[in-house]
Amino acid sequence: MERVPFDIEGLDRILFGGLPKYHDISICGGPGTGKTLLGFEYIYRGALRGEPGVFISLVENEESILENMKATFKNWKDIDKLIENGKIFIVKPESLDVLALADILEKHIIDHKINRAVIDSATVLRTTFSEHSKYRQTMQELLSLIGGLKCTTLLTYEYPSYERNNMTFSVEQFIADGIINLYNLQRAEKRVRALEVVKMRGTRHVEELVPFKISASGLEVYIGEKVF
Ligand SMILES: Nc1ncnc2c1ncn2[C@@H]1O[C@H](COP(=O)(O)OP(=O)(O)OP(=O)(O)O)[C@@H](O)[C@H]1O
Ligand SMILES: [Mg+2]
Repeated sequence: MERVPFDIEGLDRILFGGLPKYHDISICGGPGTGKTLLGFEYIYRGALRGEPGVFISLVENEESILENMKATFKNWKDIDKLIENGKIFIVKPESLDVLALADILEKHIIDHKINRAVIDSATVLRTTFSEHSKYRQTMQELLSLIGGLKCTTLLTYEYPSYERNNMTFSVEQFIADGIINLYNLQRAEKRVRALEVVKMRGTRHVEELVPFKISASGLEVYIGEKVF
């Protein structure tokens, strides 16, 4: 199986090399758990490899995403250059329509040869449907379209909890090829960030909770270390 690496060392080790190519992966977590940062780092690291990617933001506008990423990842001096050179695209669609989203993806794949994409936050799409069955069907169509487009895609989903034992799953997680959960766990007087791969169709992966940190150089994933 071909892999798409994050180029985040610990994370790639958990995934035995990276994400299965052309799969769609759900990144799930509570507010501030690092979903947007992980998504952007995935696009950034791909761009450094010469693989163009699109970051589709359904919540924040382009300027705000860029501003936040630069503020957090201070050691990345080349974000603007990668955007200028057509390696990173940040797009805020005008409408939240799933079909419009599919169009944006398709256009970037054809015009800019992107093979990495992030949809942040895909939770927003649900609000455009009043009927659950229609939502499920449309999401399934979107994911199969993405798969057919030869693009390895992360979709972020907002969860109402930081804790592992409160995680619940809904339709998005069942139809996704893979799931990575991000947590901000309560430990005594502090919180500890941790992540876990709970599903990855077609590949083995490490099955444990792994601590991580957000640093100015990117996410640091400490495989083999206990979460205290
Ligand atoms: N320089 C930094 N060093 C350490 N942690 C940081 C730094 N910059 C941001 N953070 C942490 O990252 C969090 C933001 O991460 P991110 O925006 O990816 O969260 P998110 O899961 O997308 O949240 P939301 O669901 O609200 O969009 C901040 O709340 C903060 O805790
Ligand atoms: Mg976010």
